[in-house]
Amino acid sequence: MSSLPTFQTAAIIKSANVSADDIVIDHKFDLPQLNEDDILVRNQYAGVNPLDCKVRQYGFYINSYPTILGVDFSGIVVATGSKVTKFKIGDSVCGCNMTHIRGTYSQYVVCSESQAALNPESISHQVAASCPVTFLTAFQCFLRHPSSKSGQKDSLRGKQVLIIGGSGGVGMSGILLAKNYFNAEKIVTISSAKNADFVRKLGADQVLDYTKGKEYLTHELESLKGTFDIVLDFVGSYQEYYSIELLKQDEESQFVTIVHTPQGISGKVFGSERAKNLYAERDGDQLAVILKWLSESGLWKDIPIHILSLDQASQAQKMSESNRTVGKIILQIP
Ligand SMILES: NC(=O)c1ccc[n+]([C@@H]2O[C@H](COP(=O)([O-])OP(=O)(O)OC[C@H]3O[C@@H](n4cnc5c(N)ncnc54)[C@H](OP(=O)(O)O)[C@@H]3O)[C@@H](O)[C@H]2O)c1
Repeated sequence: MSSLPTFQTAAIIKSANVSADDIVIDHKFDLPQLNEDDILVRNQYAGVNPLDCKVRQYGFYINSYPTILGVDFSGIVVATGSKVTKFKIGDSVCGCNMTHIRGTYSQYVVCSESQAALNPESISHQVAASCPVTFLTAFQCFLRHPSSKSGQKDSLRGKQVLIIGGSGGVGMSGILLAKNYFNAEKIVTISSAKNADFVRKLGADQVLDYTKGKEYLTHELESLKGTFDIVLDFVGSYQEYYSIELLKQDEESQFVTIVHTPQGISGKVFGSERAKNLYAERDGDQLAVILKWLSESGLWKDIPIHILSLDQASQAQKMSESNRTVGKIILQIP
């Protein structure tokens, strides 16, 4: 610990309920405290997620201010807590430090060892910082179906999946996982026409263009009634279609949404009473499985990454809030 600086550079907010323009670059921010089961990481890249903007806007998960934003990171371990067994100084790691929001738009990041994973050699810090929240969320959605609940490869063979919102961070991860990890038979996604080629390249077999309007989408979804084993909602604004019985009428088919609306979900959704909200867990072991698969398959090359510098953190959050991001936004840490 002796070679560590006293201060670090970080993108912070000074109070709750502020705008992206209120994010400040502080060059004299304290280093984070290391608990016994934490690793301290010299951060290289931080992922930017819609969650970061919601934390800034609503202040949840934050105990005190000023605070550093962000949960995804990738960097090098520079210190370990007394009870850490999985990692050593010098390891290249990524993760999401979500115990409370402890911040990753910063040069130094603490993370519980249970929420981090080793970066495989072929996975750069840029790719690794793009993966934790999005891939873990999509992966855990698939664990909600009885066939794939063990997380085993190929466990969705013969199954059909609908992904609402295929071109964002979680959607992209969902299509890649459904096609190449779980090996689903057919993947349909709802996306705008401008991203149709992108989602097809990821593995979508059929793309429904929501910009063509309600009449078109209703007609297309009606024609797919009773075909899906899993419907995943990564957008949260499709309630007007919930009455279409898209799911197979069996005891297993599953609807999962990751976007929480004030009215919540109740009753039948797409023909099933088993509708579920999912809050992704930050699981380092699952992340290690995903990174190994991305490395071995070479599919990490399919992730579009938009790199901004840490001092563009405000701009990065505005890009995220535009709801038009294709792939991932990351911040390069000086
Ligand atoms: N519950 C959890 O644990 C959890 C975890 C992660 C994320 N989330 C939430 O999940 C949502 C998605 O996260 P993300 O990181 O994937 O966001 P993102 O990367 O910012 O998603 C942007 C994408 O959404 C697409 N999109 C926007 N409106 C659409 C619509 N009406 N139909 C289809 N696609 C649409 C856009 O494509 P077009 O330009 O083509 O429309 C864009 O590519 C966010 O609300 C986030 O907060 C929840």
